Amino acid sequence: MIRREFLVRTLSAAVASLVARGAFAQNAPHDMHDMSGMQDMKGMEGMGSMPGMSSHASAATHATATLAPADALPAGRPLAALRVLANESREPGVFRATLVAHPVQREMLAGKPTTFWQYDAMNGGALPAANASQGPVVGPLIDVCEGDTVEIRFINRLAQPSTIHWHGLPVPPDQDGNPADPVAPGATRVYRFTLPAGSAGTYWYHPHPHMMSAEQVFRGLAGPIVVRAAADPLAAWPERHLFFSDLRLASDGSIPPNDMMDWMNGREGQFVLVNGARRPRIVVTNDERWRVWNGCNARYLKLSLGAASFVQVGTDGGLLEAPRDGLTELLLAPGERAELIVRAGAGSRQAVLSAAVYDRRKMSMSEGDSLPADPARALADVSFEPPEKNAQAPRALPAKLAVIAPLVASTVRKSVVFSEKMDMSAMHRPGASAHGMPAGMTFMINGSTFDPARVTLTSRRDEVEIWSIENRTDMDHPFHLHGTQFQIIERQSGGVTTPEPYRAWRDTVNVQPEETVRIATVQHMAGERMFHCHILEHEDLGMMGTLRVV
Ligand code: C2O
Ligand code: CU
Ligand code: CU
Repeated sequence: MIRREFLVRTLSAAVASLVARGAFAQNAPHDMHDMSGMQDMKGMEGMGSMPGMSSHASAATHATATLAPADALPAGRPLAALRVLANESREPGVFRATLVAHPVQREMLAGKPTTFWQYDAMNGGALPAANASQGPVVGPLIDVCEGDTVEIRFINRLAQPSTIHWHGLPVPPDQDGNPADPVAPGATRVYRFTLPAGSAGTYWYHPHPHMMSAEQVFRGLAGPIVVRAAADPLAAWPERHLFFSDLRLASDGSIPPNDMMDWMNGREGQFVLVNGARRPRIVVTNDERWRVWNGCNARYLKLSLGAASFVQVGTDGGLLEAPRDGLTELLLAPGERAELIVRAGAGSRQAVLSAAVYDRRKMSMSEGDSLPADPARALADVSFEPPEKNAQAPRALPAKLAVIAPLVASTVRKSVVFSEKMDMSAMHRPGASAHGMPAGMTFMINGSTFDPARVTLTSRRDEVEIWSIENRTDMDHPFHLHGTQFQIIERQSGGVTTPEPYRAWRDTVNVQPEETVRIATVQHMAGERMFHCHILEHEDLGMMGTLRVV
């Protein structure tokens, strides 16, 4: 009986994941093949005798019933502005605030409150009531300037340890919310750092506790950061913020835990939210500067405005040297950010901001098989409604935006290799995914999973190094390095080396199967830094290493 329960749970978990992606209906033949692959595995013949589980179809129906339908959340509301974290300091150059991580109830589905874990400001010592939190689930925007000293008091009101990691910012290693520095449930700590000149860019913050980052982020803990420069060539452009996050909701309003497929491929819910809402409406009346964040655990966003082109002006770590005009697509891997210019144009028209098809080669539960790519998905509806007067005089984009000095490398080379080991029989063993971490899946860096006691690589302060990041797995993994912004030198795939066509500051870069990406990178502070896959499930499963800077 225990065995049968396991089999049903495993299959419905796999099917639930397929259904959640909407792939079941659209790619039925492929998926059915996929599941017959599973059925071949030993022990699956017991399936037919389970009540209500006599066929694949009923298994799929059963799984569908547990998830809220993909249109259960309202769409079409005006895009909500992000909440802004208020500065409690009066001293010039000091940003001071308190952030609390706590469970908050929200009624996403009528009469079925959902418990999120969320960052809220604690103004004047008053904790917002657990059910009084308004605005998007996204944590408040931290809007600061180069040169500011930032002091954030963090109160952990979760039932598990947490940290705040300042993704992409060059903060001291002991202020960066490393897994080695947990803040216990009920405890408080202060994070303090000064933002150096040249750090203007688009960043975010999220928890980074050992083996619990994925869950804390998918339950709602993440927020945006903007660092501004005193001289910003695009300061005159009206700014819009789109923080993308992912949500899976069960039909009872709960946020289900990760299943086996989530651990394997990274979790993707049935909803992609923009500033906390499904498919909002955006009205563009002027040329705008958009900052976009991929705050999803695992979802890749190949942003598209359909036929309308847009301009990329910035990456994770700030402005490009020159605008990249005429883009129709831009891939944002999990953790990545970008700055865009979206032009109002001359006449009114409608567009859909969508995530175009991108095949990141998700694995199936049967050996060696990949899942089909997800279909395109609408993220927001955009109406371009330029008023007459503006239509005549679009703002001219400066040809030069920034100067990015190339990182000149020493002779020091480092190698980071992503690899994986999938033990399908262990995955299908009873209890394989019963208690948090699943069995049978190993995601490694340089041949091992993360060990807090081990230093993976050692670098010297202020020494520019070339790192090659090689993906020897069958799926995409976004590489992320803490504490610095790096420059991509080249990408190598199938024996072809492609120099990166433009210089940019990044802290996250996608690496495709069989691809090697070479970056120039430097650390300026001694201490320990993490580097990892930013599919947060993979990070929690140990696809992470420690860089010791001496
Ligand atoms: Cu955004 Cu180590 O993470
Ligand atoms: Cu980070
Ligand atoms: Cu990964």
